[in-house]
Amino acid sequence: MAGIPAGVEPGQGAGAGGPGQGLNSGPNWPSLALCHISPGKRRQSAPGGSLHPIMIDPFGRAITYLRVSVTDRCDLRCVYCMSDDMTFLPKRQLLTLEELDRLCTAFIRLGTTKIRITGGEPLVRRDVMRLFGALGQRLGHGLKELTVTTNGSQLATHAETLAASGVKRINVSLDTLDPQRFAQITRRGRIEPTLDGIFAAKAAGLAVKINAVAMKGVNEEEFNAMIAWCGEHGFDLCLIETMPMGDIEGDRTDQYLPLSIIRARLRQTWTLQETEYRTGGPARYYDVRETGRRIGFITPMTHNFCESCNRVRLTCTGTLYMCLGQEDSADFRPLLRAGVSDDQLEDAIQAVIARKPKGHDFIIDRRHDKPAVGRHMSVTGG
Ligand SMILES: C[S@@+](CC[C@H](N)C(=O)[O-])C[C@H]1O[C@@H](n2cnc3c(N)ncnc32)[C@H](O)[C@@H]1O
Ligand code: SF4
Repeated sequence: MAGIPAGVEPGQGAGAGGPGQGLNSGPNWPSLALCHISPGKRRQSAPGGSLHPIMIDPFGRAITYLRVSVTDRCDLRCVYCMSDDMTFLPKRQLLTLEELDRLCTAFIRLGTTKIRITGGEPLVRRDVMRLFGALGQRLGHGLKELTVTTNGSQLATHAETLAASGVKRINVSLDTLDPQRFAQITRRGRIEPTLDGIFAAKAAGLAVKINAVAMKGVNEEEFNAMIAWCGEHGFDLCLIETMPMGDIEGDRTDQYLPLSIIRARLRQTWTLQETEYRTGGPARYYDVRETGRRIGFITPMTHNFCESCNRVRLTCTGTLYMCLGQEDSADFRPLLRAGVSDDQLEDAIQAVIARKPKGHDFIIDRRHDKPAVGRHMSVTGG
């Protein structure tokens, strides 16, 4: 793993992101001390107070989207994501909620407009609603969107607090509508809490997008039913190809299903109209004329989406990955714990963005029996 680039000396600086700002006062979360947003010497405010993105990578892409994994733990063990006997990190290695807030806030000062909280299962992290409360205070002050990807198992408890924090849209992973198949795919889950969570989110006014990983011979016959179900309840649907990340105790060539095949099959039942709709992510969307909802396809294997990549990923231990499919990374935890100043933190982030690679090299076939990257999606944050 590469270290933080030269120019930042751990131990220097005053740690300007310390406690004491006390900005958050949301209805359902205890106080989380916040670092304040200052204009910063390298930032310019645009008319109307919006902030220009100033993180441009070596390939000219503006980096405006940060995905943050707040835990590597999960209450499920989806077959494409984890092995059954995962070893999780000791909790002391995780960034505290205050450290996560400080780092996210530095990214916002540098032009990050969208933050997605993910994991592992983000909603199993204790007190994570405090982080949503704190980041929600940044909305309208540089941050335009705060969102979350969840398996939905704890969503019934948290949906209203998420909405009160300013979250408007969420992604919920649901690969099947069949209770038995759900138990098989997740190795230990029950579908009811996830369905309850989805409907609680809808009731709280959150727009829900269902994410389903397409698996050969597992759920490939279900997508017509899922499109109809999503149409009935007002959800968009996004199908995802399996990506070769982390050891999963199985052969990925058995799971891999190119979505080009699925799309052609779906066209026999549904009228799919191409649309320019984008969520800033890699999905290509189509309107489903019969339901009035959208279906997206995320195809890292059959279509390389790197040319429009606008994101970087932060793990729960403070490691920043510039690409989901590459190993290069930088560890921010030592800097945070050495008490660097906000300026030094921003310099370090900018220097790491300058190392963002052009793209990933995912490939799944029988000659490549090792994952393209050793870490699981639950570590980097899917
Ligand atoms: C890692 S999970 C984390 C958030 C939450 N636990 C959930 O399941 O939504 C984020 C997304 O990554 C997807 N995912 C996990 N491993 C994957 C893989 N190897 N290939 C493709 N998608 C994967 C999941 O289906 C989920 O939609
Ligand atoms: S996909 Fe999400 S719910 Fe499934 S094991 Fe991975 S982190 Fe957990």
